[in-house]
Amino acid sequence: MALQRNLSFIMIMISFVACYNEDLLSSIVEDSPYIYDGVTFKDFIKQIVDPALSLESKLGGLSPTSAKTFNVDDYGAQGDGKTDDTQAFKKVWEAACSSKKSVLVVAEKNYLLKPFTFSGPCKSNTITVQISGSLVASDNPSDYNQDPTHWLMFDSVQKLTVKGGGAIDGNGNIWWQNSCKKNKKLPCKNAPTALTLYKCNNLVVEDLTIKNGQQIHLQFQDSSNVRVSGLNVTAPEDSPNTDGIHVTNTENIRISSSFVGTGDDCISIVDGSKNLQATDITCGPGHGISIGSLGEDGSKQFVSGITVKGAKFSGTTNGVRIKTWQGGSGSASNIKFQNIQMKNVSNPIIIDQNYCDQESPCQEQKSAVEIRNVLYQNIKGTSASDVAMEFNCSKNSPCQGIVLQNIDLQLEGGGEAKASCNNVKLSYKGNVKPRCSKYIEEVNEDGGFGSTYI
Ligand SMILES: *[C@@H]1O[C@H](CO)[C@@H](O)[C@H](O)[C@H]1NC(C)=O
Ligand SMILES: *[C@@H]1O[C@H](CO)[C@@H](O)[C@H](O)[C@H]1NC(C)=O
Ligand SMILES: *[C@@H]1O[C@H](CO)[C@@H](O)[C@H](O)[C@H]1NC(C)=O
Repeated sequence: MALQRNLSFIMIMISFVACYNEDLLSSIVEDSPYIYDGVTFKDFIKQIVDPALSLESKLGGLSPTSAKTFNVDDYGAQGDGKTDDTQAFKKVWEAACSSKKSVLVVAEKNYLLKPFTFSGPCKSNTITVQISGSLVASDNPSDYNQDPTHWLMFDSVQKLTVKGGGAIDGNGNIWWQNSCKKNKKLPCKNAPTALTLYKCNNLVVEDLTIKNGQQIHLQFQDSSNVRVSGLNVTAPEDSPNTDGIHVTNTENIRISSSFVGTGDDCISIVDGSKNLQATDITCGPGHGISIGSLGEDGSKQFVSGITVKGAKFSGTTNGVRIKTWQGGSGSASNIKFQNIQMKNVSNPIIIDQNYCDQESPCQEQKSAVEIRNVLYQNIKGTSASDVAMEFNCSKNSPCQGIVLQNIDLQLEGGGEAKASCNNVKLSYKGNVKPRCSKYIEEVNEDGGFGSTYI
């Protein structure tokens, strides 16, 4: 009864606000990008206020009557996988971006593309790119002379949806062969990121395969209010630097129900990223989910509000990792790793505040990127190495607020795994195996760290 009363009260309040003051509602909604149980407050309100809108968003935001369709084939694309279709994409994009509400259709064929930027801002209120076929990257490096770091990019396009069940194929073999990580004699050069979403707010990316990235597969940069789901990101295990999903300076992003198996990080989360939720992600092969690296070359960097919930890692070099360089500053804070399965993972749980990924050894330095408030909860499975849990933290700035709750990590094939712990302030809850032999115990009365953070 009480619940019903409360709900009706909320409904009445919302209809009142919706009917009489739309501006007020949108200002409340715009200012409240908080995530409750995986639904942003904004989505939650929208669904209640406007059932038609929520149905529409289930259908991908396109009601056939009002959206205008632009088919790349009508703009001269061949889709034979051999002809360069870049000019046709340029034309169809110009048209779609100038229309009020548009759907750009890519048919079930193979479109060969040189580097291309879908530039905004657009005149459209909403724009959907419906990829049913495959976009295949040119693998002639000279096509990338102008900007060697991007293949496809959406720049400053708002209310964009990219979906359709098709594929984005970076055709990366030539870049992998020419990588200094494969051939030590070659100079180290950047390769293009397959798909970049730059300065895109209110963005949806769903139901796509992204494969064989030249380097990073999918990058979110300087964006906010982003929903990602149903992705299948794949590249060979030995392809160098082929991160699956890279998030940089992006806020309020939910990544769910996706599979990532590549040669590098499954998801990497770097400077300026805030409020990220990753749920039901399957990783492997690759390097696992990584926060950082942060603090390279003495930089001041921040990442906060990261939740990874319900992930599976299989045969990866790391499970959940936080890595920072010595000499940096800033922090990685308020991080939760929950309900995670590990299968034969080399470093299932790792914090490395002494990260060093360069030829010459890194010098010992005093300053460090702080790491605090990290919850590891319900993490089970097997480790490929003896050390299943490693906290390699800084002497001057120990890791703090580390909470380990219900952890059970064994050696793959049976036997007890170990923990290696340096300069870590932590507390235990429930059953935790393995345990650190040396650590700084943190007082964890319920009401302290527990209630404010967990
Ligand atoms: C993902 O894509 C790869 C190759 O592109 C394919 O072999 C695999 O079956 C796909 N997995 C899923 C879960 O769709
Ligand atoms: C576990 O991983 C190790 C190292 O990555 C590998 O050598 C071994 O074959 C794997 N074992 C199983 C059972 O998959
Ligand atoms: C911690 O990191 C330092 C620097 O990379 C390394 O030399 C050391 O072996 C690591 N400690 C452990 C216990 O792994």
